[in-house]
Amino acid sequence: MTKTILRALAGETLPTPPIWMMRQAGRYLPEYRATRAQAGDFLSLCYNPELAAEVTLQPIRRYGFDAAILFADILLVPQALGADLWFVTGEGPRLSTITTQRDFDALKPADAIDETVGSVYETVRILARELPSETTLIGFAGAPWTVATYMIAGRGTPDQGPAHALKNENRALFEALLERIEQATILYLSAQIEAGAEVVKLFDSWAGSLTGEDFNAYALAPTQRIIAALKARHPDIPIIAFPREAGEKYVGFHKATGADCVALDNSVDAKWAAEHIQTGGCVQGNLASRHMVTGGQALVDETRAIVEAFRHGPHIFNLGHGITPDADPANVQLMIDTVRGA
Ligand code: CP3
Repeated sequence: MTKTILRALAGETLPTPPIWMMRQAGRYLPEYRATRAQAGDFLSLCYNPELAAEVTLQPIRRYGFDAAILFADILLVPQALGADLWFVTGEGPRLSTITTQRDFDALKPADAIDETVGSVYETVRILARELPSETTLIGFAGAPWTVATYMIAGRGTPDQGPAHALKNENRALFEALLERIEQATILYLSAQIEAGAEVVKLFDSWAGSLTGEDFNAYALAPTQRIIAALKARHPDIPIIAFPREAGEKYVGFHKATGADCVALDNSVDAKWAAEHIQTGGCVQGNLASRHMVTGGQALVDETRAIVEAFRHGPHIFNLGHGITPDADPANVQLMIDTVRGA
Protein backbone atom coordinates (compact mmCIF):
# COMPACT_ATOMS: atom_id res chain seq x y z
CA MET A 1 0.00 0.00 0.00
CA THR A 2 1.75 3.14 -1.13
CA LYS A 3 -0.84 5.89 -0.81
CA THR A 4 0.05 7.83 2.32
CA ILE A 5 -3.54 8.66 3.27
CA LEU A 6 -4.47 4.96 3.20
CA ARG A 7 -1.43 4.13 5.32
CA ALA A 8 -2.39 6.71 7.94
CA LEU A 9 -5.98 5.45 7.91
CA ALA A 10 -4.68 1.92 8.47
CA GLY A 11 -3.05 3.18 11.66
CA GLU A 12 0.51 3.81 10.51
CA THR A 13 2.54 6.64 12.05
CA LEU A 14 4.30 8.38 9.16
CA PRO A 15 7.35 10.67 9.40
CA THR A 16 5.39 13.40 7.57
CA PRO A 17 1.61 13.48 7.82
CA PRO A 18 -0.27 13.31 4.52
CA ILE A 19 -2.28 16.45 3.81
CA TRP A 20 -5.48 17.60 2.13
CA MET A 21 -7.86 20.44 2.90
CA MET A 22 -11.62 20.72 3.38
CA ARG A 23 -13.17 22.79 0.54
CA GLN A 24 -9.84 22.58 -1.30
CA ALA A 25 -11.79 23.06 -4.54
CA GLY A 26 -13.48 26.37 -3.92
CA ARG A 27 -13.87 30.06 -4.46
CA TYR A 28 -10.41 31.07 -3.12
CA LEU A 29 -9.00 29.59 -6.36
CA PRO A 30 -9.30 31.65 -9.58
CA GLU A 31 -9.43 28.47 -11.69
CA TYR A 32 -12.43 27.26 -9.63
CA ARG A 33 -14.26 30.55 -10.16
CA ALA A 34 -13.65 30.27 -13.91
CA THR A 35 -15.01 26.72 -14.16
CA ARG A 36 -18.00 27.60 -11.96
CA ALA A 37 -18.79 30.50 -14.31
CA GLN A 38 -18.53 28.10 -17.25
CA ALA A 39 -21.01 25.73 -15.54
CA GLY A 40 -23.40 28.62 -14.86
CA ASP A 41 -24.06 28.05 -11.18
CA PHE A 42 -22.98 25.89 -8.27
CA LEU A 43 -25.57 23.12 -8.66
CA SER A 44 -24.98 22.84 -12.41
CA LEU A 45 -21.31 22.39 -11.56
CA CYS A 46 -22.13 19.63 -9.05
CA TYR A 47 -24.20 17.73 -11.63
CA ASN A 48 -21.76 18.12 -14.55
CA PRO A 49 -19.35 15.16 -14.25
CA GLU A 50 -16.62 16.59 -16.52
CA LEU A 51 -16.60 20.01 -14.84
CA ALA A 52 -17.01 18.60 -11.31
CA ALA A 53 -14.03 16.31 -11.98
CA GLU A 54 -12.10 19.28 -13.37
CA VAL A 55 -12.55 21.39 -10.20
CA THR A 56 -11.70 18.35 -8.03
CA LEU A 57 -8.41 18.03 -9.92
CA GLN A 58 -7.50 21.75 -9.81
CA PRO A 59 -6.09 21.80 -6.24
CA ILE A 60 -4.27 18.51 -6.93
CA ARG A 61 -2.50 20.06 -9.92
CA ARG A 62 -1.73 23.30 -8.11
CA TYR A 63 -0.59 21.88 -4.76
CA GLY A 64 -0.15 18.10 -5.04
CA PHE A 65 -2.40 17.30 -2.06
CA ASP A 66 -2.31 13.65 -0.96
CA ALA A 67 -6.09 13.31 -1.34
CA ALA A 68 -8.77 14.66 -3.65
CA ILE A 69 -12.30 15.07 -2.32
CA LEU A 70 -15.12 14.51 -4.76
CA PHE A 71 -16.72 17.82 -5.75
CA ALA A 72 -20.41 17.74 -4.77
CA ASP A 73 -22.45 18.93 -1.77
CA ILE A 74 -24.12 17.36 1.26
CA LEU A 75 -27.41 18.95 0.17
CA LEU A 76 -27.67 16.88 -3.02
CA VAL A 77 -29.16 14.07 -0.89
CA PRO A 78 -32.15 16.17 0.28
CA GLN A 79 -32.65 17.23 -3.33
CA ALA A 80 -32.55 13.59 -4.42
CA LEU A 81 -35.18 12.83 -1.75
CA GLY A 82 -37.44 15.40 -3.39
CA ALA A 83 -36.72 18.67 -1.55
CA ASP A 84 -36.41 21.81 -3.65
CA LEU A 85 -32.86 23.20 -3.40
CA TRP A 86 -31.33 26.44 -4.62
CA PHE A 87 -28.41 28.66 -3.64
CA VAL A 88 -28.76 32.38 -3.02
CA THR A 89 -25.50 34.11 -3.96
CA GLY A 90 -23.78 35.55 -0.91
CA GLU A 91 -26.27 33.91 1.47
CA GLY A 92 -26.13 30.14 1.05
CA PRO A 93 -28.53 27.27 0.52
CA ARG A 94 -32.33 27.38 0.55
CA LEU A 95 -34.60 24.31 0.62
CA SER A 96 -38.30 23.58 0.86
CA THR A 97 -38.94 22.76 4.53
CA ILE A 98 -39.98 19.50 6.21
CA THR A 99 -41.99 20.32 9.32
CA THR A 100 -45.20 18.28 8.98
CA GLN A 101 -46.11 14.66 8.34
CA ARG A 102 -47.46 15.80 4.96
CA ASP A 103 -44.10 17.30 3.98
CA PHE A 104 -42.41 14.06 5.01
CA ASP A 105 -44.90 11.86 3.14
CA ALA A 106 -44.14 13.75 -0.08
CA LEU A 107 -40.45 12.73 0.07
CA LYS A 108 -39.17 10.02 -2.22
CA PRO A 109 -37.95 6.66 -0.88
CA ALA A 110 -34.22 6.32 -0.22
CA ASP A 111 -33.68 4.03 -3.19
CA ALA A 112 -34.92 6.72 -5.60
CA ILE A 113 -31.86 8.94 -5.06
CA ASP A 114 -29.84 7.58 -7.98
CA GLU A 115 -32.20 9.27 -10.46
CA THR A 116 -30.86 12.60 -9.17
CA VAL A 117 -27.31 11.85 -8.02
CA GLY A 118 -26.35 9.35 -10.73
CA SER A 119 -24.10 11.94 -12.36
CA VAL A 120 -22.11 12.23 -9.11
CA TYR A 121 -21.12 8.56 -9.51
CA GLU A 122 -19.94 9.41 -13.02
CA THR A 123 -17.73 12.18 -11.55
CA VAL A 124 -16.22 9.56 -9.22
CA ARG A 125 -15.53 7.22 -12.16
CA ILE A 126 -13.76 9.98 -14.10
CA LEU A 127 -11.65 10.86 -11.05
CA ALA A 128 -10.73 7.24 -10.38
CA ARG A 129 -9.26 7.19 -13.91
CA GLU A 130 -7.62 10.60 -13.95
CA LEU A 131 -6.11 11.13 -10.51
CA PRO A 132 -2.35 10.64 -10.09
CA SER A 133 -1.56 7.15 -8.75
CA GLU A 134 -0.39 8.52 -5.38
CA THR A 135 -3.55 10.55 -4.73
CA THR A 136 -6.40 9.06 -2.68
CA LEU A 137 -10.00 9.72 -3.76
CA ILE A 138 -12.37 10.62 -0.91
CA GLY A 139 -16.15 10.44 -1.32
CA PHE A 140 -18.49 12.00 1.23
CA ALA A 141 -21.99 12.68 2.50
CA GLY A 142 -23.55 14.72 5.27
CA ALA A 143 -24.49 12.87 8.46
CA PRO A 144 -28.25 12.54 9.08
CA TRP A 145 -28.53 15.16 11.85
CA THR A 146 -26.64 17.82 9.89
CA VAL A 147 -28.59 17.16 6.69
CA ALA A 148 -31.87 17.19 8.68
CA THR A 149 -31.05 20.63 10.15
CA TYR A 150 -31.08 22.05 6.61
CA MET A 151 -34.16 20.08 5.54
CA ILE A 152 -36.19 21.19 8.55
CA ALA A 153 -35.17 24.88 8.57
CA GLY A 154 -34.89 25.24 4.79
CA ARG A 155 -31.54 26.99 5.25
CA GLY A 156 -28.44 27.13 7.41
CA THR A 157 -29.15 28.27 10.97
CA PRO A 158 -26.76 29.56 13.64
CA ASP A 159 -28.14 27.33 16.42
CA GLN A 160 -30.13 24.64 14.53
CA GLY A 161 -33.19 25.96 16.39
CA PRO A 162 -35.88 24.67 14.00
CA ALA A 163 -34.44 21.14 14.04
CA HIS A 164 -34.26 21.11 17.85
CA ALA A 165 -37.85 22.41 17.95
CA LEU A 166 -39.13 19.62 15.69
CA LYS A 167 -37.22 17.09 17.79
CA ASN A 168 -39.04 18.34 20.89
CA GLU A 169 -42.49 18.79 19.33
CA ASN A 170 -42.78 15.76 17.06
CA ARG A 171 -40.06 13.27 17.83
CA ALA A 172 -41.58 10.51 15.71
CA LEU A 173 -41.48 12.69 12.60
CA PHE A 174 -37.98 13.93 13.43
CA GLU A 175 -36.73 10.36 13.83
CA ALA A 176 -38.45 9.22 10.63
CA LEU A 177 -36.69 11.99 8.73
CA LEU A 178 -33.28 11.08 10.17
CA GLU A 179 -33.90 7.44 9.32
CA ARG A 180 -34.79 8.27 5.70
CA ILE A 181 -31.60 10.31 5.36
CA GLU A 182 -29.59 7.48 6.94
CA GLN A 183 -30.91 4.93 4.43
CA ALA A 184 -30.23 7.27 1.51
CA THR A 185 -26.73 8.00 2.82
CA ILE A 186 -25.83 4.31 2.99
CA LEU A 187 -26.94 3.82 -0.64
CA TYR A 188 -25.24 7.04 -1.78
CA LEU A 189 -21.89 6.22 -0.16
CA SER A 190 -22.00 2.58 -1.30
CA ALA A 191 -22.50 3.75 -4.87
CA GLN A 192 -19.58 6.20 -4.55
CA ILE A 193 -17.38 3.33 -3.29
CA GLU A 194 -18.49 1.09 -6.15
CA ALA A 195 -17.65 3.91 -8.59
CA GLY A 196 -14.10 4.21 -7.20
CA ALA A 197 -14.03 6.25 -3.97
CA GLU A 198 -11.25 4.80 -1.78
CA VAL A 199 -12.29 6.47 1.49
CA VAL A 200 -15.56 8.08 2.56
CA LYS A 201 -16.13 10.89 5.02
CA LEU A 202 -19.29 11.74 6.96
CA PHE A 203 -19.70 15.45 7.69
CA ASP A 204 -21.67 16.07 10.90
CA SER A 205 -21.03 19.81 10.90
CA TRP A 206 -23.65 20.57 13.56
CA ALA A 207 -22.99 17.60 15.89
CA GLY A 208 -21.81 20.08 18.53
CA SER A 209 -25.33 21.39 19.12
CA LEU A 210 -26.53 17.95 20.29
CA THR A 211 -26.06 17.35 24.01
CA GLY A 212 -26.39 14.38 26.35
CA GLU A 213 -28.56 11.52 25.11
CA ASP A 214 -29.42 13.47 21.94
CA PHE A 215 -25.76 13.31 20.90
CA ASN A 216 -25.74 9.54 21.33
CA ALA A 217 -29.07 9.02 19.59
CA TYR A 218 -28.72 11.45 16.67
CA ALA A 219 -24.98 11.87 16.02
CA LEU A 220 -23.17 8.81 17.36
CA ALA A 221 -25.72 6.04 16.68
CA PRO A 222 -26.51 6.99 13.04
CA THR A 223 -22.77 7.28 12.33
CA GLN A 224 -22.21 3.86 13.88
CA ARG A 225 -25.04 2.30 11.83
CA ILE A 226 -23.89 3.90 8.55
CA ILE A 227 -20.33 2.70 9.15
CA ALA A 228 -21.52 -0.83 10.01
CA ALA A 229 -23.67 -0.98 6.87
CA LEU A 230 -20.84 0.27 4.64
CA LYS A 231 -18.29 -2.10 6.17
CA ALA A 232 -20.68 -5.03 5.74
CA ARG A 233 -20.72 -4.33 2.00
CA HIS A 234 -17.17 -3.03 1.62
CA PRO A 235 -15.10 -4.44 4.49
CA ASP A 236 -11.87 -2.66 3.52
CA ILE A 237 -13.22 0.85 3.04
CA PRO A 238 -11.73 3.35 5.54
CA ILE A 239 -14.20 5.86 6.96
CA ILE A 240 -13.55 9.32 8.40
CA ALA A 241 -16.16 10.74 10.80
CA PHE A 242 -16.37 14.47 11.51
CA PRO A 243 -18.61 15.21 14.51
CA ARG A 244 -17.68 18.89 14.41
CA GLU A 245 -17.53 20.76 17.74
CA ALA A 246 -18.19 17.56 19.69
CA GLY A 247 -15.66 18.71 22.33
CA GLU A 248 -15.12 16.09 25.04
CA LYS A 249 -17.56 13.79 23.21
CA TYR A 250 -14.79 13.20 20.65
CA VAL A 251 -13.23 10.91 23.29
CA GLY A 252 -14.11 7.30 22.45
CA PHE A 253 -15.78 8.24 19.15
CA HIS A 254 -13.56 5.89 17.09
CA LYS A 255 -14.47 2.90 19.22
CA ALA A 256 -18.15 3.74 19.60
CA THR A 257 -18.72 4.25 15.86
CA GLY A 258 -16.12 2.06 14.16
CA ALA A 259 -14.63 5.07 12.35
CA ASP A 260 -11.05 4.59 11.13
CA CYS A 261 -10.34 8.27 11.59
CA VAL A 262 -11.96 11.11 13.49
CA ALA A 263 -11.64 14.63 12.07
CA LEU A 264 -11.07 17.36 14.64
CA ASP A 265 -12.33 20.93 14.45
CA ASN A 266 -10.00 23.69 15.58
CA SER A 267 -11.62 24.18 18.98
CA VAL A 268 -9.87 20.96 20.07
CA ASP A 269 -6.40 21.43 21.55
CA ALA A 270 -3.96 19.24 19.59
CA LYS A 271 -1.88 18.16 22.60
CA TRP A 272 -5.00 17.15 24.52
CA ALA A 273 -6.35 15.36 21.45
CA ALA A 274 -3.11 13.40 21.02
CA GLU A 275 -3.56 12.05 24.56
CA HIS A 276 -7.30 11.49 24.59
CA ILE A 277 -8.48 10.94 21.00
CA GLN A 278 -5.53 9.82 18.85
CA THR A 279 -5.06 6.87 21.23
CA GLY A 280 -8.26 5.51 19.64
CA GLY A 281 -6.97 5.72 16.06
CA CYS A 282 -6.04 8.09 13.25
CA VAL A 283 -7.00 11.75 13.66
CA GLN A 284 -7.38 14.42 11.01
CA GLY A 285 -6.93 18.15 11.48
CA ASN A 286 -6.93 20.74 12.78
CA LEU A 287 -5.48 24.10 11.76
CA ALA A 288 -7.90 27.05 12.01
CA SER A 289 -9.03 28.15 8.54
CA ARG A 290 -8.35 31.81 9.38
CA HIS A 291 -4.60 31.15 8.96
CA MET A 292 -5.31 30.70 5.24
CA VAL A 293 -6.44 34.34 5.24
CA THR A 294 -3.79 35.83 7.54
CA GLY A 295 -0.70 33.68 6.81
CA GLY A 296 2.69 34.73 8.22
CA GLN A 297 4.62 33.39 11.19
CA ALA A 298 1.43 32.52 13.11
CA LEU A 299 0.47 30.08 10.34
CA VAL A 300 3.93 28.48 10.42
CA ASP A 301 4.04 28.24 14.23
CA GLU A 302 0.55 26.78 14.57
CA THR A 303 1.09 24.29 11.72
CA ARG A 304 4.33 23.07 13.33
CA ALA A 305 2.65 22.78 16.74
CA ILE A 306 -0.10 20.56 15.30
CA VAL A 307 2.35 18.33 13.41
CA GLU A 308 4.47 18.04 16.57
CA ALA A 309 1.51 17.24 18.83
CA PHE A 310 0.32 14.38 16.61
CA ARG A 311 3.68 12.96 15.46
CA HIS A 312 3.60 9.87 17.67
CA GLY A 313 0.48 8.41 16.07
CA PRO A 314 -1.50 8.23 12.82
CA HIS A 315 -2.38 11.73 11.60
CA ILE A 316 -3.72 13.35 8.44
CA PHE A 317 -3.07 17.08 8.35
CA ASN A 318 -6.09 19.26 7.46
CA LEU A 319 -7.88 22.40 8.51
CA GLY A 320 -10.46 22.32 11.30
CA HIS A 321 -13.17 23.40 8.85
CA GLY A 322 -13.42 24.41 5.19
CA ILE A 323 -11.16 27.06 3.69
CA THR A 324 -13.01 30.35 3.18
CA PRO A 325 -13.36 32.30 -0.10
CA ASP A 326 -11.19 35.19 1.19
CA ALA A 327 -8.16 32.89 1.70
CA ASP A 328 -4.89 33.63 -0.11
CA PRO A 329 -3.75 30.66 -2.27
CA ALA A 330 -0.13 31.49 -1.29
CA ASN A 331 -0.93 30.74 2.36
CA VAL A 332 -2.10 27.25 1.38
CA GLN A 333 1.30 26.66 -0.21
CA LEU A 334 3.01 27.95 2.94
CA MET A 335 0.99 25.50 5.07
CA ILE A 336 1.92 22.58 2.79
CA ASP A 337 5.60 23.54 2.73
CA THR A 338 5.59 23.83 6.51
CA VAL A 339 3.98 20.39 6.99
CA ARG A 340 6.29 18.70 4.49
CA GLY A 341 9.41 20.45 5.71
CA ALA A 342 8.60 20.25 9.40
O1 CP3 B 1 -14.48 19.98 0.38
C1 CP3 B 1 -14.60 20.00 -0.86
O2 CP3 B 1 -13.85 20.68 -1.59
C2 CP3 B 1 -15.61 19.08 -1.51
C3 CP3 B 1 -16.87 19.64 -1.85
C4 CP3 B 1 -17.80 20.10 -0.74
C5 CP3 B 1 -18.63 21.24 -0.85
N1 CP3 B 1 -19.45 21.28 0.24
C6 CP3 B 1 -18.61 22.18 -1.97
C7 CP3 B 1 -19.26 23.51 -1.82
C8 CP3 B 1 -18.09 19.49 0.49
C9 CP3 B 1 -17.44 18.28 1.15
C10 CP3 B 1 -19.14 20.24 1.08
C11 CP3 B 1 -19.76 19.89 2.37
C12 CP3 B 1 -20.81 20.73 2.92
N2 CP3 B 1 -21.76 21.43 2.25
C13 CP3 B 1 -21.07 20.86 4.30
C14 CP3 B 1 -20.32 20.16 5.40
C15 CP3 B 1 -19.03 20.78 5.70
C16 CP3 B 1 -19.12 22.14 6.32
O3 CP3 B 1 -18.71 23.09 5.62
O4 CP3 B 1 -19.58 22.24 7.46
C17 CP3 B 1 -22.17 21.72 4.45
C18 CP3 B 1 -22.79 22.17 5.75
C19 CP3 B 1 -22.61 22.08 3.13
C20 CP3 B 1 -23.78 22.91 2.77
C21 CP3 B 1 -23.38 24.11 2.02
N3 CP3 B 1 -22.90 24.11 0.74
C22 CP3 B 1 -23.44 25.44 2.48
C23 CP3 B 1 -23.91 25.88 3.86
C24 CP3 B 1 -22.96 26.23 1.43
C25 CP3 B 1 -22.95 27.72 1.39
C26 CP3 B 1 -21.84 28.30 2.17
C27 CP3 B 1 -20.72 28.70 1.26
O5 CP3 B 1 -19.57 28.40 1.58
O6 CP3 B 1 -21.04 29.36 0.24
C28 CP3 B 1 -22.58 25.37 0.37
C29 CP3 B 1 -22.02 25.77 -0.93
C30 CP3 B 1 -20.75 25.10 -1.36
N4 CP3 B 1 -20.47 23.77 -1.26
C31 CP3 B 1 -19.66 25.74 -2.03
C32 CP3 B 1 -18.72 24.74 -2.32
C33 CP3 B 1 -17.42 24.89 -3.05
C34 CP3 B 1 -19.61 27.19 -2.41
C35 CP3 B 1 -20.56 27.37 -3.55
C36 CP3 B 1 -20.09 28.30 -4.65
O7 CP3 B 1 -19.17 27.96 -5.40
O8 CP3 B 1 -20.74 29.34 -4.73
